[in-house]
Amino acid sequence: MTGSEDIAIRAARVDDAEGYRACIDRVARARIFVGITEAYPLEEVRAFVADMVARDLPIYVAVTRNAKLIGWCDIGMPKPRPERPGFAHVGYLGMGIDADYRGRGIGEKLLRAAVDHARRIGMERIELQVFPSNAAARALYQKLGFEVEGLKRRVRKLDGRYDDLIQMALLIGAAAG
Ligand SMILES: CC(C)(COP(=O)(O)OP(=O)(O)OC[C@H]1O[C@@H](n2cnc3c(N)ncnc32)[C@H](O)[C@@H]1OP(=O)(O)O)[C@@H](O)C(=O)NCCC(=O)NCCS
Repeated sequence: MTGSEDIAIRAARVDDAEGYRACIDRVARARIFVGITEAYPLEEVRAFVADMVARDLPIYVAVTRNAKLIGWCDIGMPKPRPERPGFAHVGYLGMGIDADYRGRGIGEKLLRAAVDHARRIGMERIELQVFPSNAAARALYQKLGFEVEGLKRRVRKLDGRYDDLIQMALLIGAAAG
């Protein structure tokens, strides 16, 4: 087993796209933690990573000594459009760690790095959604100051089961004042 001291947390690069996608895919295929059940196609993911890097948006990865990408945290923002002013301060967070590497402080480090970056670039509100059953993620978000804003009821229907989603957000910068 690799200890978390052997894991590097760093900003993602465009050439991380394949490993980033593979990690998302492994987490998604559990069908429990995130809304997707498999990763999006590589070209789409590559374009997303390139766009995040080009716009200096927070996208952090956790990488083993063998250069395997085993975790990520990103805070995306839709491209600003003149037709939809008023939301340019809001980011949308997603994250995940490979099952073998959970519970060693890696998620917290990734999340702190992404939130620090968000603060630095002037983001003011970070939103996310989490399934009620996901106790680890809810505890992590609460530890870093995210607050519950509401509950979307029976928003997912998968494998014959409904799930609710908890809406959480963290206000930073001017919005926190
Ligand atoms: C949620 C997740 C990102 C947390 O990352 P992690 O590396 O396992 O968490 P860490 O070891 O950094 O723990 C940080 C904090 O998270 C909380 N936490 C982590 N695992 C927990 C668990 N099993 N039960 C309760 N709280 C837990 C605790 O508050 C912990 O702080 P503490 O050590 O002071 O108690 C990770 O478990 C994961 O990837 N889960 C599957 C994917 C997922 O759920 N993504 C988020 C979708 S909204």
